[in-house]
Amino acid sequence: MQPVELRHASRLINHGPTVLVGSAHAGRRNLMAAAWSMPVEFTPPRVVVVIDKSTFTRGLVTASGHFALSVPGRHQADLVYTLGSESGAGTDKFERHGLEADPGPVLALPLLRGCVAHLECRLIDEPNAQAAYDCFFGEVVSAQADERIFSNGHWLAPTEDNADLHTLHHLGAGLFGVAAAAIQARPLKPIE
Ligand SMILES: Cc1cc2nc3c(=O)[nH]c(=O)nc-3n(C[C@H](O)[C@H](O)[C@H](O)COP(=O)(O)O)c2cc1C
Repeated sequence: MQPVELRHASRLINHGPTVLVGSAHAGRRNLMAAAWSMPVEFTPPRVVVVIDKSTFTRGLVTASGHFALSVPGRHQADLVYTLGSESGAGTDKFERHGLEADPGPVLALPLLRGCVAHLECRLIDEPNAQAAYDCFFGEVVSAQADERIFSNGHWLAPTEDNADLHTLHHLGAGLFGVAAAAIQARPLKPIE
């Protein structure tokens, strides 16, 4: 993993990957899947993620004021689905599934090994957005990515050689799409 400049942090989730929300508070830690996250500002880098009231994650995020967004790769699809199908309330998902995590560089949030990118975020105090829409805004305070798939501030084109590192896009009920190829768009010339 290599640090990513914060001005490029939005690019790590710009394309709508399913993420893992990492949280920790008072000796508890957790990971949950989230399909609904996106960047909302370049500088300072800000993101939003939907965290339902029913989740264990929500209490940890609210109490700590921090959350991480980790971007899993294709090789982690079964794990992502599992982490999004069970609650961490009565169990430590890391122990249950033998997961290894490293502490984030700024907030020491649990960052799951094997993911292709991580963001650590400080929760922005927007109680109405949380209560009314389950929307948790955060300011990104650290960003890192696997340089085999994100380098010099840009994602590399998906190829067969980096297939395990392709990000996951939830289609529903545990079915994920992955990007198969990149195409370079060019501006249309207006009709004269
Ligand atoms: C692929 C996938 C995407 C999900 N996306 C979201 C989401 O965006 N927001 C949300 O609140 N829950 C989402 N969920 C459901 C949570 O991950 C699920 O409720 C999880 O068990 C919560 O874990 P926790 O109680 O340990 O926090 C998703 C589940 C899956 C499988």
